[in-house]
Amino acid sequence: MAIKISFLNLKGGVGKTSMIVNVGACLAYMGKRVLIVDLDAQSNSSIWLMRLDRWNAQNRYPEKFALNLFKNPDAKITDCIHKSPVRDLEGEVALESLDLIPASFSLLDLEHDVENKTDVPFYIQFYEHMADIEMLYDFILFDCPPSFYYAPQAAIFNSDWVIVPANADALSIIGFHLLTEKLNKFKEKTEDHRNELHSPTPEIMGVSLNAIKPGVRIDVPVERFENQIERFIEQRKVPTKTELFPTRIRHSITVGRAVMQGQPMVLMPKNEGSMSVAKDYIKTSQYILERCGITL
Ligand SMILES: Nc1ncnc2c1ncn2[C@@H]1O[C@H](COP(=O)(O)OP(=O)(O)O)[C@@H](O)[C@H]1O
Ligand SMILES: [Mg+2]
Repeated sequence: MAIKISFLNLKGGVGKTSMIVNVGACLAYMGKRVLIVDLDAQSNSSIWLMRLDRWNAQNRYPEKFALNLFKNPDAKITDCIHKSPVRDLEGEVALESLDLIPASFSLLDLEHDVENKTDVPFYIQFYEHMADIEMLYDFILFDCPPSFYYAPQAAIFNSDWVIVPANADALSIIGFHLLTEKLNKFKEKTEDHRNELHSPTPEIMGVSLNAIKPGVRIDVPVERFENQIERFIEQRKVPTKTELFPTRIRHSITVGRAVMQGQPMVLMPKNEGSMSVAKDYIKTSQYILERCGITL
């Protein structure tokens, strides 16, 4: 069965999408079967992996997007899986074992205009869809919007782990506090359903610091994050192994370039900037494997 991980932060622009695309790519590069599920209406990971032209063309088929899994009771999840979307710079299929369930802008409707025609909560409908395919993958990674509405709830209800990408600043620490409280409330609220369905208990694996600029000192926010995590461990609000990830993802302008070229960092042309960030993502992926008890 796949290990399922949500990448979540209530703050936008902290590196959730960059982390999911690049960790997903690294895991596939290491030979793992990976599915990225884009549950953010901004569709950033879908556009990064499919590139804008293919994603635009796919928009003619709304049944092939994540929203359909919530909107249409007869939807088949296999229809939504876009196989091996990544192309290298020559246009050849790369990372064959990386698949995607894409989002489109209309996923926003889920929070406003999609009526739940059943009395089964959206997160359970989604859980039942995921159950049909999880044996096909080693990892299923959910890209979440910066909110706690239906789409992230569906991701969290389905996850074994939550990873919190964050920036090294004071506001991110406040955001982490809020996120942990929200997550624990959601876990309490859904406990009966989780017990009934034997669905996983989502736990915070840790916080991954992103876009760290060279020469910028981050000792103060790092210490505050560590103190906050320690307090949460004492209060039993997070597992005892929760920690700041040992590898911090360095800042590099090549990340923006990689988005434009539809390339994960491991496939980008090698230069100093791209190699340092690619290494950070590889190390982070190795750490995630270790935390999941998987040896290569
Ligand atoms: N390591 C990095 N170095 C430089 N820019 C980065 C890095 N990681 C992310 N970015 C940029 O920061 C912005 C926000 O990142 P993104 O992953 O989209 O965040 P989120 O999904 O949390 O909104 C994007 O423009 C992205 O290209
Ligand atoms: Mg994003």
